[in-house]
Amino acid sequence: MTKMDKIGPRHVAIIMDGNGRWAQQRGRPRLVGHHAGAKRVREIVEACPDVGVKYLTIFAFSTENWKRTQTEVAGLMRLFRRYIEREARALLQEGVRVRFIGDRMKLDDKLVSLMDNLELLTSTNDKVHLTIALNYGGRDEVTRAAQRLAFEIEQGRLTHKDVDAETLAKFLDTQFLPDPDLVIRTSGEARISNFLLWQSAYAEYEFLDTLWPDFTSDEFKTVIGAYGTRDRRYGAVLA
Ligand code: FPP
Repeated sequence: MTKMDKIGPRHVAIIMDGNGRWAQQRGRPRLVGHHAGAKRVREIVEACPDVGVKYLTIFAFSTENWKRTQTEVAGLMRLFRRYIEREARALLQEGVRVRFIGDRMKLDDKLVSLMDNLELLTSTNDKVHLTIALNYGGRDEVTRAAQRLAFEIEQGRLTHKDVDAETLAKFLDTQFLPDPDLVIRTSGEARISNFLLWQSAYAEYEFLDTLWPDFTSDEFKTVIGAYGTRDRRYGAVLA
């Protein structure tokens, strides 16, 4: 197990933080930082096959981000719509399968339909699996999973004895994903901010000072390379 892990992480998850500060440092509105951040997404997705990363999961909008100003929230939602419209063709051609996690109920219909279409359009791709967390929160995800599980029990399709970690994981938004091996957070904050709480139980963490819009594919590759030197024990003592 350790030997294989040393080759590199198969699933990398990223908390893309620091867009606002990047813009502020330049005396620009926060949304300018988000636009610069969106450009980086393409560069990092394209770098994945070079370093053997098959699954990339990025935190685009959290369940807590609604607390930002109305201008910023509306600007981000517009950015997500434009991102999907503009990037769909390139993502399809580059073999990227895109999926979204998070609660879609609170998102506007136009955005949800773009998300659905992109998932469908790229559904037969297999080169890189890009998962975008949008209106996602780890506690919210586990809560929604528990509700669905409770409903299955109520309907008599499951009993309480069926509830174990494996079954619960099947009710999570990430049911189609392996657990992340490495979680990266940019911008100097050492917090996980409700991202993939269940799934990251054994993940390695890398906290970087770089602000997200400055995060290059070279730095990404360096981080992935450094991961290869770590031993992961999954709680066990290895000989
Ligand atoms: C955190 O920076 C970033 C966000 C809340 C939004 C992340 C979104 C993008 C990178 C835009 C593109 C994404 C896609 C999928 C198109 P912050 O605003 O919290 O920065 P700060 O901590 O410096 O204020």
